Amino acid sequence: MHKLTIEEKASLTSGATTWTSQAAGTIASMHMSDGPHGLRYQGSEGDSLGLGASVPSICFPTAAGLASTWDRDMIHKVGAALGEEARALHVSMLLGPGLNIKRSPLGGRNFEYASEDPFLAGTYGTAFVKGVQSQGVSAVPKHFAVNNQETDRFRVSADVDERTLREIYLPAFEMTVKQARPWAFMCSYNKVNGVYASQNHELLTKILRDEWGFDGVVVSDWGAVADRVAAVKAGLDIEMPPSNTDHKIVAAVRSGACDESVLDTVADRIALLAQRTQSSRTGEQHDLQSFAETHDELARKAAQESVVMLKNTGILPLSTSDTAPIAMIGEFARTPRYQGGGSSHVSAIRVHALVNELRSALPNRTITFAPGYALTQHDKSAEASDESDAQRYIDEAVDAANRAAIAIVNVGYFESDETEGADKTTIELSDAQNTLLEAVTATGTPTVVILSGGGVIQLGQWADKADAILEGWLLGEAGGAALADILIGAVSPSGHLNETIPQQLEDNPSYLHFPGSNGHVLYGEGLYVGYRYYDTLNLPVAYTFGFGLSYATFAYSNIKVEVIDGTHAKVSLTITNTGNCQAAAVPQIYVRSNQPDRPVHELKGFARIDLAPAESRSITVELDARAFASWNIEQHRWRVYAGDYTVEIGTSSRDIVSSTTISLDGDHYVAQLQTMSTLGEWLANPYGAQILKPFVDKVRESVADPSPEMAAIFAQMPLIKLASWGVGLDEQQIEAMATAAQRLAETASRQ
Ligand code: BGC
Repeated sequence: MHKLTIEEKASLTSGATTWTSQAAGTIASMHMSDGPHGLRYQGSEGDSLGLGASVPSICFPTAAGLASTWDRDMIHKVGAALGEEARALHVSMLLGPGLNIKRSPLGGRNFEYASEDPFLAGTYGTAFVKGVQSQGVSAVPKHFAVNNQETDRFRVSADVDERTLREIYLPAFEMTVKQARPWAFMCSYNKVNGVYASQNHELLTKILRDEWGFDGVVVSDWGAVADRVAAVKAGLDIEMPPSNTDHKIVAAVRSGACDESVLDTVADRIALLAQRTQSSRTGEQHDLQSFAETHDELARKAAQESVVMLKNTGILPLSTSDTAPIAMIGEFARTPRYQGGGSSHVSAIRVHALVNELRSALPNRTITFAPGYALTQHDKSAEASDESDAQRYIDEAVDAANRAAIAIVNVGYFESDETEGADKTTIELSDAQNTLLEAVTATGTPTVVILSGGGVIQLGQWADKADAILEGWLLGEAGGAALADILIGAVSPSGHLNETIPQQLEDNPSYLHFPGSNGHVLYGEGLYVGYRYYDTLNLPVAYTFGFGLSYATFAYSNIKVEVIDGTHAKVSLTITNTGNCQAAAVPQIYVRSNQPDRPVHELKGFARIDLAPAESRSITVELDARAFASWNIEQHRWRVYAGDYTVEIGTSSRDIVSSTTISLDGDHYVAQLQTMSTLGEWLANPYGAQILKPFVDKVRESVADPSPEMAAIFAQMPLIKLASWGVGLDEQQIEAMATAAQRLAETASRQ
């Protein structure tokens, strides 16, 4: 239909350059750029690993921060700002958001991912994609799917069972597809259950397109294609970057190994994408300096909301009228950690350092800076040889703390700890930093600890002695300014953890399996990822999923949970700011099911509500049927079973303020009966019960009432087994009964 030759159509199935798609006929070429928290524009050529220079752009908080805002509007705004920057450079496809689940705190790209929870990650993806696409630029959610580690990422097979795939690893992508309609998608490098994601028909066609209704273009991750023909046939549209092997596609079409209609479909999809993104290639191209003020301000607001306050004995906020001196300790306060390494690494326009920002926010206070550690000290070998240096740094910091009324210590992961292509090996701070924290807290000077890093950090002994702890993630270029705003109370902290902080790495449920070996990684913990595991087993953790303190306090009232049509529910509640500053509350809704094989509860809704002191607001959150559903591996479908569910409202997964039990009618789905279905299943099925009735009546006439033990034994017995039980039913009769039950079910479903 595009009047293209086979060669032209085949050329569309791979990029023209590292960063552009191929043009053919009336189909325009499109420019693609990373990424998830800042534009990494490199022109048409360039590298994909973030090694080469890119044009200066705004660096927003990475997903680890932005997802901690639990703020759909803020995520949308950041997405829209990235879309705006993309169109300024005529970039039509922005390579993000990253929607993979943080399975292990060791995950090397956790800083680019939103959560250990699929509902939070899906909400993040939805808001982000809507924001980007509001600018006429295609978002490209990635990396589809089950790409939860960097170790062996090009080859490893993520071996995950069907239910876990459906309930944990796919839903963030599914929600984003259904609610935000992204125009493009990126497949991952790894294999899923032995089949490369790039040539996985089940993922790219059956689930993504046929089930979820995705109508866009799938691009490969950079270099993810193993077999060009298999990939195109499985549903992959564009191989990136090009491997100059389009002739293989041409040959496959000529030999009949690949139907030409497959290429027509690819051409149609790419033409639609080009049309959808057409406005991104119009207007004058210009650099991003014009966004330097407005987007830096947005990056600062996003960073303020990202910070999670873990502890505060009352030391924060710092008084702005007090003149007592402050010791600012930690090289990161001067040289901020604000982004991770790899393809998402941008050249930030302007980086705000915490020490400078705090000095201008508190002009009346003397703020002494001591580096506390060197940027090279995370390297254990360097540490050993530089022991005396390390001690000098610590002595200087202790001296500064001793002379101050308050010490603020900024520690965290080093840049080389957090990069694409490598997983972490520990979640502990470097020895030098732990020693520093012990030494500073031992001075008796009240201490505020600020953590910087794209993932959770194991807290040391010092945590008990610290007066306040702020989780400062990787906050983007304006992070230093945002942290100063929080420290002085210009804004209240409002971030909440998107990931549990375990007491130690070994407690994490994936610990025994991560990152696998011999080309396989077994997802042995199944559904029990993050808080689903800790909470079900009631294990102690350092900080629970969803946790975050504020300078204000909140009261919850008028909590109501209403069942709608017997199939889903509506939660309403009123929140009042009972504190004395403007602040935001994040009420979270968890659902607990009565079935035995489910996590103790799962996040299914939340809101973020900004309130002035004494202000109240009422909100309503809908819980659709899916909030109560689980995946049935026999029926290969979502099921909502009839029965009781508990709806919990919490300020974290463990701080539950109210729980209400409701009863749902379930989905009324009638499963197909088989000869191997049990007598219990037959009798619970309306058509099965109807067909079995004459037989059951006959048995009842001849046998006295069976004992409960006998009834239980029979209920568990597959019907076909009755054939050898001398009860007057043979195999043919039972097969005929199964067929008859199926017919009745089909007739009923047609009515
Ligand atoms: C990364 C992607 C990125 C691509 C292009 C790959 O190495 O996995 O996330 O979008 O490079 O830079």
